[in-house]
Amino acid sequence: MNIAHRGASSYAPENTFAAYDKALAMGVNQIELDVHFTSDDHLIVIHDDTVDRTTNGSGPVAEHTLAELRTLDAGSWFGLQYAGERIRTLGEVLEHYKGRHHFHIEIKARDVPGLATRTIDMVRGYGLTDDVTITSFWKPWVDESRAYAPEISTGWLVPLGPGSQWDDSIMDQALESGFTQVCPRADIVTPEIVKMLHDKGFVVRCHGIFNEDLMRHAVECGVDGMTINFPDKLVELLETNRG
Ligand code: G3P
Ligand code: CA
Repeated sequence: MNIAHRGASSYAPENTFAAYDKALAMGVNQIELDVHFTSDDHLIVIHDDTVDRTTNGSGPVAEHTLAELRTLDAGSWFGLQYAGERIRTLGEVLEHYKGRHHFHIEIKARDVPGLATRTIDMVRGYGLTDDVTITSFWKPWVDESRAYAPEISTGWLVPLGPGSQWDDSIMDQALESGFTQVCPRADIVTPEIVKMLHDKGFVVRCHGIFNEDLMRHAVECGVDGMTINFPDKLVELLETNRG
């Protein structure tokens, strides 16, 4: 799985239609995206807790209404040619890209009960349960997804940060919870860890691909996929490997 991380976010402003379109143009039909609630309880696609970094606005996402968020420019920070790109609702993204992308939806916030179930309600409303994977670093949200929608694929973003060692209890917890995917940082995986997870039936999908060396490392370890900001490089590598 070559998953454009927040879209092809090395080349276009993250989590915008421009970045999702760029992925399609590269022949990549899977995107990762992050969801938050607005202050008036709409599901909105943005990575950070605040709008400061990726728009011309300021302040917490959760303190803006949808109408306020719609007025923000989510493209100019990346490049003036992207002026006018907008923050999108989850519904807009699903509607616009259904049948063209698989959606790896990250439930971002920890302290927002209901975000996973509302996300799933929307996914079901669009008839996209086969085209979505629900992910989170926060295991309770992945468990909530599994309990509420066992038909939807789940991926646990392994909460082992930089410098951490692999911990088998992660695998045991994921097994007990019945998750589909285990998603560790690329720099933590080894061929042995990937094999062990495969033997237990997990799909192994990496994140934290900060450079092409890590991309190659993940491929050499035998992972099933990765989120990546430069999916064109992974397309190239996989084509080269196929000879
Ligand atoms: O693929 C998982 C990745 O998206 C998690 O990190 O910070 O980019 O949301 P982050
Ligand atoms: Ca994410």
